[in-house]
Amino acid sequence: MNSIVQQLKARFDQAFASAFGESAAGTDPMLVAATNPKFGDFQCNAAMNLGKKLGKQPRAIASTIIEHLDIADICETPEIAGPGFINLRLKPAYLEAQISAIAADPRLGIELTEKPQKVAVDFSSPNIAKEMHVGHLRSTIIGDSIARILEFQGNDVLRINHIGDWGTQFGMLIAYLREVHPEALTTADALDLGDLVAFYRQAKRRFDEDETFKETARQEVVKLQAGAADTTRAWKLLCEQSRREFQVIYNLLDIKLTERGESFYNPLLPAVIADLTELGLLVEDNGAKCVFVEGFTNKEGEPLPLIVQKTDGGYNYATTDLAAIRYRIKEDGAKRLIYVTDSGQANHFEQVFAVARKAGWIPEDIEIVHVPFGLVLGEDGKKLKTRSGDTVRLQDLLDEAIVRARQDLEARLAEENRHETEEFIAAVSRVIGLSAVKYADLSQNRVSSYTFSYDKMLGLKGNTAPYMLYAYVRVQGIARSGKIDFDNLNADAKVILDSDAELVLTKHLLQLNEVVNDVSVDLLPNRICQYLFELSQKFNQFYEQCPVLKAEEPLRSSRLILCDLTARTLQLGLELLGIKVLERM
Ligand code: ARG
Repeated sequence: MNSIVQQLKARFDQAFASAFGESAAGTDPMLVAATNPKFGDFQCNAAMNLGKKLGKQPRAIASTIIEHLDIADICETPEIAGPGFINLRLKPAYLEAQISAIAADPRLGIELTEKPQKVAVDFSSPNIAKEMHVGHLRSTIIGDSIARILEFQGNDVLRINHIGDWGTQFGMLIAYLREVHPEALTTADALDLGDLVAFYRQAKRRFDEDETFKETARQEVVKLQAGAADTTRAWKLLCEQSRREFQVIYNLLDIKLTERGESFYNPLLPAVIADLTELGLLVEDNGAKCVFVEGFTNKEGEPLPLIVQKTDGGYNYATTDLAAIRYRIKEDGAKRLIYVTDSGQANHFEQVFAVARKAGWIPEDIEIVHVPFGLVLGEDGKKLKTRSGDTVRLQDLLDEAIVRARQDLEARLAEENRHETEEFIAAVSRVIGLSAVKYADLSQNRVSSYTFSYDKMLGLKGNTAPYMLYAYVRVQGIARSGKIDFDNLNADAKVILDSDAELVLTKHLLQLNEVVNDVSVDLLPNRICQYLFELSQKFNQFYEQCPVLKAEEPLRSSRLILCDLTARTLQLGLELLGIKVLERM
């Protein structure tokens, strides 16, 4: 179904063409939501620009537009205000027809995209032999939501886990483990990730202090690159070890990813260098091979190169990303490439994209974007750390959220003198705890940093997961107490917009497709959270002002449809955020 805005746009298009000639068709009607319900629902701001262009008074232009605007089935008679705004108020009959159509649609009016695309979403992407940190958590949660939204529109989404599984650090780690813990290199499960991280730190210290060790580590890198059997086996074991631990987090959070780590691109790296050389883009700078692109400078204002091959001949993070861009475009056929990492990597991506563009590897019709996000702060306003100053283990962080959700739930049960099974308590606490973490992250504009607070994210009031889940549960409660089967409501029932609260709720319900479409473009899932939050508030007002089960027919059925549609909208919206609803909580 076309959104209301799309329908209005089409009408304006016709009006522009018949009023000002075919060349005016396609003029942006500059429709915005009315600032005040007093003025209606939408405002068209096109008359000002058109006036300038045509050398006429905007108010005169506005009335010409209205004369040619065939919109009586959608809106009341448009009104001109101020310098030439056109105010539009939607007709209840139109809203009733729209909302009934959406209620009958399992996709709630969100169309499948006309042009499904292959989209590569690169997210999560932790590093082998290192703990996954909160930055990876954010990337995982935001990337998953973006992938879900694009998938729901019918796009073919590649969910790529660009794991850091390659590099000189493996030489160092393997050399060290050979000395202190050789069985880790030959037997699975000899270490857990915590040990591995500790060994990594010790190895690094040795590497920095001990020249002989440094040389041994280099030998291991050479062996690894040459594919020597024992080194390769050791490397694989280390990867598997880490992978298992990452999987625990992905299972908890219900995340699907296809692993395609850095090592995948190894065989493709020499060609990147060769092609850059052939294009004449490669410059030697102190023995390193670099590409200079206009517009990139260091602190001193000097041109800043992108290094693609180090002095020792090794490739790096940037080389791998260049190879990955080529692969995703050429081999995967992706038309849109999305990278979800912290804002700290913004320069890296900007520069890599610029080099790839300069090399002609990104055709015109390809969109490539970095989707940056801010930091997770502790309640002290500094980067989130444990009390002892270590990085927070994600598993601990998620477990803690579940434990706290359970405490809250148990307190609530005691207060309400409710008795529930252990199974119920465990399942509900888990959903609430994990949803709270996801929602707290997604509800912020991702670009800003946010403060991690269990108390806030688990609060039953405010823009939180528990509040949203509760709104859904509340509607299900109505169905239970009225013994209503939402799936089998009276087939002839229609929505009747009898009161202001019903109108307000309906108009909001009708905005879902617009919001989801916008988010698929700007990749800001917080807008879905905001939409759902407002939906719950509008539903609460409706529910306070309009009796449902006690209403007379045909209002009763009409209101039940609105209840059900609110619940389904919450459910779908939350699903797009990677959050499952509960029937009871
Ligand atoms: N492994 C990287 C990190 O932990 C993130 C990788 C992001 N993806 C990419 N194609 N560079 O920071």
